[in-house]
Amino acid sequence: MTQQLPPLSGKVVVITGASSGIGEATARLLARQGMHVILGARRTDRLEQVVTELRTRGGRADALATDVTRLEDLQALVALAEQVAGRVDVMINNAGVMPLSALEALKIDEWNRMIDVNIRGVLHGIAASLPIMKRQGHGHFVNVSSIGAYHVSPTAAVYCATKFAVNAISEGLRQEQ
Ligand SMILES: NC(=O)c1ccc[n+]([C@@H]2O[C@H](COP(=O)([O-])OP(=O)(O)OC[C@H]3O[C@@H](n4cnc5c(N)ncnc54)[C@H](OP(=O)(O)O)[C@@H]3O)[C@@H](O)[C@H]2O)c1
Repeated sequence: MTQQLPPLSGKVVVITGASSGIGEATARLLARQGMHVILGARRTDRLEQVVTELRTRGGRADALATDVTRLEDLQALVALAEQVAGRVDVMINNAGVMPLSALEALKIDEWNRMIDVNIRGVLHGIAASLPIMKRQGHGHFVNVSSIGAYHVSPTAAVYCATKFAVNAISEGLRQEQ
């Protein structure tokens, strides 16, 4: 038996890392399906371009400069969603970075950046939007993980570790709600 999915039209979705790649493509797809998309990333020129294009095609889109390593930026992005759309139905924690190198190269700055963006960024997205979802009595998280959360490969140890963490955080959140 197939299950009928609820309609997406009119729902409000916040997407981090929406200035390129999977985040931008997701924003375009969901806006086409009638969702109000609230976009966050650091490159505001790219965000503005996407928002303008989506609005020109009749979509509902807003954006705010967001660095996911800063909790206050995620709080401001969620506040924008509340201000312009009244709620947050879905939070897509998509922003992520994947610089590859062998551990023996000791690229410690890159390790820290992956931990800050891929793990702390997801936690900040949860911290910023869970309170409003609790108040509303509904909400969904989509935390973008990777095949790297299941299979570790050379030069990707730290990236995979961050995606293992994303899976653990997502499963813990699922169990608690
Ligand atoms: N592409 C793949 O094959 C693949 C496979 C498995 C999983 N993933 C995961 O999918 C997600 C998206 O990856 P992608 O391939 O679409 O990468 P991408 O094209 O490089 O896009 C990454 C996005 O993350 C944003 N970002 C990076 N650092 C940020 C920060 N500090 N604050 C806010 N936004 C930040 C970038 O925006 P700004 O630079 O403008 O901030 C950009 O919009 C990541 O979590 C990645 O790990 C990708």
